[in-house]
Amino acid sequence: MQIINKDLIRILAMDEIAGWHSDRMFTHEQSEDALHFHKSLPMYQETELKSLTAAAHSYGVRKILVKDESTRFGLKAFKGLGGSYAVFRLLCQRFKMNEDTAVFEDFQKKEIREKCKEIEFVTATDGNHGKGVAWASSIFGCKSHVFMPKGTVEARRKAIEDAGADTAVITDLNYDQVVDYAGKLAQEKGWILVQDTSWEGYEEVPCRIIEGYLTMAAETENQMKGYRPTHIFLQAGVGSMAGGIAAYYLNRYQEDPPRITIVEPETVACVYLSAEMADGKPHTVEGDPVTIMAGLNCGTPCSVIWPVLRDGVSFYTACADIITQKGMRAYANPLAGDPRIISGESGAVTYGLLLEILKDNELKSLWKMDDKSVILLINTEGATDPEGYDRIVKNE
Ligand SMILES: Cc1ncc(COP(=O)(O)O)c(C=O)c1O
Repeated sequence: MQIINKDLIRILAMDEIAGWHSDRMFTHEQSEDALHFHKSLPMYQETELKSLTAAAHSYGVRKILVKDESTRFGLKAFKGLGGSYAVFRLLCQRFKMNEDTAVFEDFQKKEIREKCKEIEFVTATDGNHGKGVAWASSIFGCKSHVFMPKGTVEARRKAIEDAGADTAVITDLNYDQVVDYAGKLAQEKGWILVQDTSWEGYEEVPCRIIEGYLTMAAETENQMKGYRPTHIFLQAGVGSMAGGIAAYYLNRYQEDPPRITIVEPETVACVYLSAEMADGKPHTVEGDPVTIMAGLNCGTPCSVIWPVLRDGVSFYTACADIITQKGMRAYANPLAGDPRIISGESGAVTYGLLLEILKDNELKSLWKMDDKSVILLINTEGATDPEGYDRIVKNE
């Protein structure tokens, strides 16, 4: 492995990757199942795959494509995909419904709605996941309790309450501690834990959540019409989303897989740290790290997805907050002819990083980018903290 330190970015470039694929986990078929369920929701709408054609042209690459999740379910982030799919599968199991054929409409029957009222879900979140779980619980008529780490901005708490949570509380714990706390409450009170990260003995729900995220990949596949990505940039908190999307593409294009880049905040780069330690195991960033990328402020990689992150990734990167600010502004002020994209702090870091790479010939050749490159990014959130968004985007 090669370590490159730039002013605002640390890069771990793998000379060789072990490679990852599976016939069972995070497959195309599973993405179709998740899409089938999401399409059954009355508020479902495919999110756009936006092409930054002028930017691609000016930097000499074939395409820069952005899956824009800022409009997903009116929640301004992709996370509701995972929460809703996990809640759906858990309820199917509870009511002995066929998980393969059930759809949202089956939950509208009076006797099922009555039973749903008695079910209470609980989760820990740094914002978007909790909003997704609160929203998913409320559309099924269940209760939800959502706990957040210290430092969470009030706007995020309020958005969770508005999405339907019965409890939405900012604790004085850090993210890893608040995850433990939610787990303990689930045991004490008989609530069902819907957590977007895993540990020994708690793997099934996080796998369902990750499968829910695959709806983004299934939609993107249909939208790309004959193109396939050569490079994919994925931002990571616990790495569930990044690992799930990476796994999908590694499974789908086993012969010639795209180059995957993981992007994290420099203060809390737990996937980067784990790759750098190179002992095959996930490692934790301790303490109370600070970053404006709230959704990525997670100290420990998700264990079920860790093998994908360890074996299927070409580049691990740790970025200063300035990189995501640059990405937010570039999305908001595109080159003439390109669409404007509203992207929040955790959504824009991949674009900020990509621009740094494209402006630096040494990095561009390290990433093997040229006029054949088709680069896929996911704008994972819109302006989820509207004040923060305005401060950053209007401040130039
Ligand atoms: C907007 C946004 N992007 C990316 C992520 C990262 O997802 P994960 O924690 O699965 O790595 C999150 C997590 O909350 C998020 O809210």
